[in-house]
Parts: sequence; structure tokens; C-alpha cells
Amino acid sequence: MKNEDKYILGIETSCDETAAAIVKNGTEIVANVVASQIESHKRFGGVVPEIASRHHVEQITMVLEETFQKAGLTIDDMDAVTVTEGPGLVGALLIGVNTAKALAFAKNKPLVGVHHIAGHIYANRLFKEFTFPLLALVVSGGHTELIIMKEHGSYEVIGETRDDAAGEAYDKVARTLKLPYPGGPQIDKLSAEGETTIDFPRAWLEEGSFDFSFSGLKSSVINTLHNAEQRNETLRREDVAASFQASVVEVLTEKTYRAAKQFGVKQVLVAGGVAANKGLRAALESKFSIEDIDLVIPPLELCTDNAAMIAAAGTIAFEQGHRAEWDLNANPSLDLEKFGKRSKDS
Ligand code: KG4
Ligand code: ZN
Repeated sequence: MKNEDKYILGIETSCDETAAAIVKNGTEIVANVVASQIESHKRFGGVVPEIASRHHVEQITMVLEETFQKAGLTIDDMDAVTVTEGPGLVGALLIGVNTAKALAFAKNKPLVGVHHIAGHIYANRLFKEFTFPLLALVVSGGHTELIIMKEHGSYEVIGETRDDAAGEAYDKVARTLKLPYPGGPQIDKLSAEGETTIDFPRAWLEEGSFDFSFSGLKSSVINTLHNAEQRNETLRREDVAASFQASVVEVLTEKTYRAAKQFGVKQVLVAGGVAANKGLRAALESKFSIEDIDLVIPPLELCTDNAAMIAAAGTIAFEQGHRAEWDLNANPSLDLEKFGKRSKDS
């Protein structure tokens, strides 16, 4: 262990994964442990907040112990404790925030609150170094955003969803198709076996807008299925899945491409659970293949929620001087742009 090396602990409990990780110098994963609760939420068709909080309480100590054990390090070796402060489920976030506070207070370590979406973006840095200016497409269960970063820790949201997030649309359409939760991977799999036989709408919105809207598409899928049922027709689930995915992927890919050209970025990062989508990955790769823009899509395990991404984003906030006080609280509606500015001002 060199003296100048920075070891940062990350803790993530914003939704249905209890996670802890240690990242070295903001770029290298030393240990990364994720305990998923998906099995417990499956029978309810979605995440039940009370169940999520209870699981986090049960899991967090073991997840932390496993993280330190795998790394061969202790809390004394850490330079800072970083934790997802928001957005997310308030009761779930509180478990991580209070655990981080207890550890930092007991061991007199700096405490840093991290924005969950900044984490998703920084998952890419565990895989590839950033080149600014860059554009990040964040597509998760709760977020669909296009973000410009001119430097580390600075976030400018140029487009966001006006209704459902991309992952949320996937999960809702999957439920209508009677597929288990979480629906994204299921639809992705079915799509590969289907044809795009149904022409679902594409919400381009106003000329030049980088915003998204997926609720019209979701309603169109639901209506198409109901109409077919009333006419006693059966639609192939694979074709419905493929047609739905084609609409989502086309809008995401096209808007990302237009934004990348308009803002003259050097790099495009894809982040969040939906970045695991095979159709989206393939469409982006083909769209950017002839461009002099570096397209970065992290490996699947870094796309979905984990704590290494929180430690990676936390490292930058820590280096930029941000410190949380002992009154740090869960903030379910934490703003990304303000989080970035706060890191710089404090
Ligand atoms: O980032 P994430 O793990 O959690 C949030 O912060 O929301 O994203 C979870 C979302 C879920 O909606 C899930 O259905 C979706 O990501 N997802 C996918 C795929 N894998 C996960 N959506 C489409 N295709 C996939 N392969
Ligand atoms: Zn997430």
C-alpha cells in the first residue's frame, strides 16, 4: 500500500440492493459486494419499500464484513466513508446513511454524501478514464437523463424524462405481458426472439428537445394488448417485446447521438440498469461506430446498483473538498446539478 493511494469505502442502499465496496484512487475496484433483494420483491411485482428497509438492516453488517474481508483491509485503512444520500427510497437510504455515519464517527473518518446518479455515471470510470467534455446517458428504474460533464464533479442536465423512466416503462410493460419483476431483462431476452411487427409511437417531443417521455408508449402497448384480447386475437409476446424495445431504443439512441453532436463531446457514457439492455448497447455501438466519439458502456455488473460506483463518485467529491456533517440525512429528492456544485463550493 503506497502512502499516496486513496482507499474509499462506498455504501449503497437506495433501492433493493444492499451494497458496499472499496475503490482505490477512484478507478480501481478492490472489493465490491452486492446483496440483491430481488427474490423478496418478485412476488409483489415491484419493490416494497418497507421490505427493502428491513432487508438492508439485516444485510448491511454482513455485506460490510465481506467487503473488508475480500479487500484484506479494515476501516482504519480507509481515507473516507462515502454513501448514497439520495435520490431513492427514504427508509432504504436511511440505513446506508446511518451506517456510514456510525462508521465514520467511530473511526474519525471523513464522511461524504453521494448522489446516486453521479454514482451510475462514475461506474464508467472503473472501466475507462473520462475524457471531457462528455455526455452521459443515464437510464435506470427511476431516471432517464442526458447529462453534460465539462469536468469532474460537474453535471449539467440537458434532458430528462417528463413522465416514466425508461426502466419503469420496461417494468410496467413487462407486468402487462405477465413477466416477472424486474421486467427489463425479461423483455430484452424476449425481444431477441421476436419481430418488430407493431409500429409503436416514438415520442420525439418538440424540435431540438432532449427530454424523453415513455408513458404514451407504455399506454399504447397496454391498449394494443387489450384490443387484441377483446378481438380474441393473440399477439406473440416476443413481437410485442421486440416492437416496444425498438421504440425505446430508437429514441434513446437518436437523442443521445444528436446531443453528442450538438455539444461536441469527446466521449459518451451509458449508465444505469437499462444500459445492460442488449438492444440498446448494439444500437448505440452501431450509431457511434463511424464517429470520432468514444462510446463507453460498462460491463453488466457495473450497470445495475452497486457501491463501487458510489465510492468512485465519492472519491471525486472527497478530492474536491466536500464533507458531510454528522447531521447528514437521507434526501430522496437530491438534485444532481446542486450536488455537483456543492462538492465544489464546500
Ligand atoms: O440502475 P438500476 O439497477 O436501479 C435504479 O437505480 O433504478 O436499474 C434498474 C432498472 C429496472 O427497471 C430494470 O428493469 C432495468 O433497470 N433493467 C433493464 C435491463 N436490465 C435491467 N432494462 C432493459 N433491459 C435490460 N437488460
Ligand atoms: Zn440505480
